[in-house]
Amino acid sequence: MPCTVIAGGFWGDEGKGKIISYLALKDKLDFCVRTGSVNAAHTIWHDGKRYALHMVPGGFVHEKCRLLVAPGANVHVAQFLKEIDETDVKRRIGVDSQASIIEEKHSTQDKTNAHLKGLGTTGWGVGPAIEERVRRTAKIAKDVPELRPYLADVATEINDAIDKDKTVLLEGTQGLQLSLFHGTYPYVTGRDTSASAICSEAGVGPTRVNDVVVVLKAFMTRVGTGPLPGEISKEEAQKRGWFETAAGTDRDRRSAPFDFELAKKAVMLNGATQIALTKFDCVHPKCKGGKTFDELPKDARQFIDRVEKYTKTPVAFIGTGPEALDLIDRRKQQ
Ligand code: IMP
Ligand code: MG
Repeated sequence: MPCTVIAGGFWGDEGKGKIISYLALKDKLDFCVRTGSVNAAHTIWHDGKRYALHMVPGGFVHEKCRLLVAPGANVHVAQFLKEIDETDVKRRIGVDSQASIIEEKHSTQDKTNAHLKGLGTTGWGVGPAIEERVRRTAKIAKDVPELRPYLADVATEINDAIDKDKTVLLEGTQGLQLSLFHGTYPYVTGRDTSASAICSEAGVGPTRVNDVVVVLKAFMTRVGTGPLPGEISKEEAQKRGWFETAAGTDRDRRSAPFDFELAKKAVMLNGATQIALTKFDCVHPKCKGGKTFDELPKDARQFIDRVEKYTKTPVAFIGTGPEALDLIDRRKQQ
């Protein structure tokens, strides 16, 4: 899989960070490119430590992986520099000169605007920062002295890497149902979150991508306002072991059972070649720590078969715990 896109299939928080960190270690990724913005936190467990990354690509867990922030991403300078220290990646991270900068004023606008508040935004200022980019008045990375040591031409680097058969992963953020075009508008984020948009933000043409992995959690969650089909109460979620709080904002996540129609839509709109099914052990506790498909109980295997039949797409990865290696990798068996 020389060039792979990772896209969320529901409302974000599907566990993309875990799949990215697994692929980084297992496939020894050469490049990992973060798209999107600081509103999305990708949770990664590495060597017993938990990271909630808003800017640094999840591929940092593989020490030889070059880390890049895409030209279509928005950069929060202080958060970017803080995470570089936390993950110790100063010598192998770059940010595209054309990436937009999120400033304090954007966050203030996000938090004080009644319409945006009603949508339950994260308050990081991403919507207002994107508005400014569209007006063509936004600052970009090359205007910021602190970013000078990191400036890169990301599209050229990645396309050269693909030419040389290096492994490249394009890391999407949030999920299809939060897409500005395909999601539950107006209860969506400020950008398209589909695989095509991830490629566009990174500067990789669609013909250069080999695999699109759509990440679906075994149950669904949503933070902020907007519809969530099949939603259950917080008490019920706690009883089922599905209750979560948001990695980025600490808000309660609402939850609902897995929805096959939405899964099918996510596969279609992302052109997915593979599905990653995460948090499978939360719905099927007997699967915790599982390493092979055959050892899973019958009802768990039946569920996976149903997902594959319904979406006509292989479930290549099954998450069985929080650490990167708590995972069933079925790619070799397919
Ligand atoms: P914004 O992206 O901050 O403008 O927020 C718009 C909507 O997207 C709100 O419902 C947020 O809760 C949601 N959202 C934004 N980023 C994430 C994320 O990383 N995970 C889950 N929901 C998100
Ligand atoms: Mg998240």
